[in-house]
Amino acid sequence: MDLHGKHIVLGLTGGIACYKAAEVCRALVKQGATVQVVMTEAAAQFITPVTMQALSTRPVYDSQWDARERNNMPHINLSREADAILIAPCSADFMAKLLHGRADDLLSLMCLARPIDKVPLIIAPAMNREMWSHPATQRNLAQLRADGTHVLGVGNGDQACGETGDGRMLEPDELLEELSAFFQPKLLSGHKVVITAGPTFEAIDPVRGISNLSSGKMGFAIARAAHEAGAEVSLIAGPVALPTPRGVRRFDVKSALNMHAAAVEYAQTASIFIATAAVADWRPAAESPHKIKKDGSGPAPELVFVENPDILAEVAASPRAAEGALFCVGFAAESHDLLMHATAKRLRKSVPLLVGNLGPATFGQDDNALLLVDANGATELPRNSKLHLARQLVAEIARRLNSH
Ligand code: C5P
Repeated sequence: MDLHGKHIVLGLTGGIACYKAAEVCRALVKQGATVQVVMTEAAAQFITPVTMQALSTRPVYDSQWDARERNNMPHINLSREADAILIAPCSADFMAKLLHGRADDLLSLMCLARPIDKVPLIIAPAMNREMWSHPATQRNLAQLRADGTHVLGVGNGDQACGETGDGRMLEPDELLEELSAFFQPKLLSGHKVVITAGPTFEAIDPVRGISNLSSGKMGFAIARAAHEAGAEVSLIAGPVALPTPRGVRRFDVKSALNMHAAAVEYAQTASIFIATAAVADWRPAAESPHKIKKDGSGPAPELVFVENPDILAEVAASPRAAEGALFCVGFAAESHDLLMHATAKRLRKSVPLLVGNLGPATFGQDDNALLLVDANGATELPRNSKLHLARQLVAEIARRLNSH
């Protein structure tokens, strides 16, 4: 539960994306947050306070003259309790209002009255594509950012008006991912992180190849966690069927040679390299240009293999790694004697930190357990979700970088 203990004021303004706010509210509650909904009069044209009350399990506020508050100051009382105010959807009109510090309804009044250094304001814009690209909106966005508002992006695609383009509100799951990221400590801010993830695919002929059961989930979770921690993240992914974590730059590769070329290039400007990929140790010496046919006339074909480059060992041996400008982290998937194999692998690959896990227990799973091995010994991270472990690993990396 990423938002456990957080109190979120969810503000709704007038826009058709209000229908998504119901789902957002539900998702916030599911993630452990308490939610206080505040709606503008326009928002109530699109979705009823009854719906939002039922989902948040709290009466909705929509007027600054609400007599339920003893001091008749809901704009003060509601904002003082919040860990963040999330306005989703935030209309073009409401953005303009925020920008000028106008305060003619409860929600805008509350945004103005909030303690600016304690209660962050996060907005999820939603509007027609012409309204979104209008210079006035773009100018307002830039100014709101300069004033310290955390402005989320918009989606692209079909709009309720029938047009297609930028300006849709982010989907509820995307909003939740953004909000969880917002609350994570920015332990890697200023860092550039490169991660390899997933299996590689070594072609035999145009329709066949050799691969392994790595799902890429651990590497993708680390990419998400590093991005949440404020790093600029490049994710070099072998063939996997996983969505790209928000804010992460993804580069898809197929073979170990493709992954090697991308990793060597990206690592040149990175400060952290994390090799989670299950790279094939060998590839067929020659890829047949045509499908190898079974015509029953001869013996079964024999494959000859050549060794793939060891991407991690090569990057860890680069001058930048030797100077301490690039911190390298390796993974080891073993079936037994984890500590012994992980310790040996750390020395063989010359990396400061090697993370061991048990292959059969992790491949394809949503949870895992890790053993961190460095020059000082081993630390266990007990079984948990891969995202939780990824966040712990990011914190461990940050701690090691700061202690240098
Ligand atoms: O030697 P082994 O494959 O067990 O080492 C695992 C570690 O080395 C992982 O971090 C993996 O991503 C990395 N590796 C690599 N290139 C290879 C083989 C492994 O980067 N060719």
